[in-house]
Amino acid sequence: MREPRVVPYPASVVLTGGEYPGDPAAPENRPETLRPDLYGPEEYKLVITPDHIEAEAGTERGLFYALQTLRQLSGAGLAVPCMEIRDRPFFPYRGFLLDSARHITGLGDIKALVDAAALFKMNAFHWHLTDDQGWRIPIERYPLLTEKGSVRLSSDFGKVHTGKHYGGFYTKSELREIVAYCAERHIDVIPEIDMPGHMTAAISAYPELSCSGKQIPVQTRQGIFPDILCAGKDSTLETVYGILDEVLDIFPSKHIHIGGDEAPKDHWRECPACQKRIADEGLAGEEELQRWFVAKICAYLREKGRSAIVWNESLKGGVPCNDMTVEMWMDRKSLCPAFANAGGKMIVSPFFYYYMDYPYAMTPLKKTYRFNPFVKGLDERGRSNVLGVEGSLWTEHIRDYDGLCMMAYPRFAAIAETGWTPPAQKNYIDFEDRFEALSPLLAAQRIFCAPRKDWNPGPLKRIAGTCSFFANNFGRGQPARSGGAEEEKP
Ligand code: ACM
Ligand code: ZN
Repeated sequence: MREPRVVPYPASVVLTGGEYPGDPAAPENRPETLRPDLYGPEEYKLVITPDHIEAEAGTERGLFYALQTLRQLSGAGLAVPCMEIRDRPFFPYRGFLLDSARHITGLGDIKALVDAAALFKMNAFHWHLTDDQGWRIPIERYPLLTEKGSVRLSSDFGKVHTGKHYGGFYTKSELREIVAYCAERHIDVIPEIDMPGHMTAAISAYPELSCSGKQIPVQTRQGIFPDILCAGKDSTLETVYGILDEVLDIFPSKHIHIGGDEAPKDHWRECPACQKRIADEGLAGEEELQRWFVAKICAYLREKGRSAIVWNESLKGGVPCNDMTVEMWMDRKSLCPAFANAGGKMIVSPFFYYYMDYPYAMTPLKKTYRFNPFVKGLDERGRSNVLGVEGSLWTEHIRDYDGLCMMAYPRFAAIAETGWTPPAQKNYIDFEDRFEALSPLLAAQRIFCAPRKDWNPGPLKRIAGTCSFFANNFGRGQPARSGGAEEEKP
């Protein structure tokens, strides 16, 4: 195993001989110097000699990352070789997504996941707070969003049918508590209010938001649903702006995720208001109407000094605005590379490699680790516009904290290493050993990782695990993501 036993592996390491005998993370052993003239915003230097340790960085964030390196060196409980580390991330964006709409994770457990992400120098928590199956953020101006929209009558994900009400939401003070907790760990919280699709919960509370205005229940199943926001009515935009005002008040992050994925256009095709909007705005059809809608929201956020992130489907009707960031999860037509090549920013989160709700049988650790974020179709300019990577914990099939941990770790650490470590320094076998050496430290932080024997199942286990995942979780009317354009016909 290479020294240091640190994940992500640092950009540059020079072993200088000898060992440091004390606890490297003890504060008295760690004089810190801020030198903004010498270091970039996330960069740091550590000098470990037999009798002292020095940390230097340009910012508090850099010093925080130096401390995470020392905490890892300390947590392994082994002698620390003397060395000089010069370290900075390969990508500026290293995120993780938690879906709190399908199943809710408690504040204490979220904090444990945030602590682990910080330990691996991740810097963005993408919090998926609204979806068809539940609305989890209170909006005072629209109280029914949580009063009605946070409760579903049952949970019917795959073969699981509870027949019981499931509901809940985070109070504004709890949301702020997580924002503050993350800020102390140099992690931005990026809330996602997914629109115009994945809005069943909101429409169940305020039916006038949809084209038909019909009363519908909060969804109890997974899937892609036809009731989406009506883009023809001005009142929809006013409501969305009102919601965003309160979202922005809680979350100071520059970036706000506005979803934009999986929005079937059946209702827009039949809606007089949507068709009138298409005609009035000279749009070529429903995909262009989504482009128009997303552009409106982008402009609203821009006015407030923020910037939108959207899922890749929002490029289908053309580019809504140039200053947004696109998050690529499934992009068969390579719209994201074209956007990045033309100067747009891009986050890479391919479902086939980085969706952690899939079992290790489908997405072994090796596959996640070896994924190259410079996807096909990027030219040199496009590569420079890849902001970074994000791993996603969708929770239709993950119902509890232990499940979240096992699915996330070590795969999130693999994504963190891809986000931080220069490709030439990455090494899979070595990563496995370095990660395993950190297990006691993670267990002390309540992160219970999948055991090593499960990280890369053999061919038979992969087939069996994949078959049983699909058999248990995707029946009729419950599409897997693999189809992409599949839209559920209820
Ligand atoms: C997504 O997985 N629909 C973003
Ligand atoms: Zn409409």
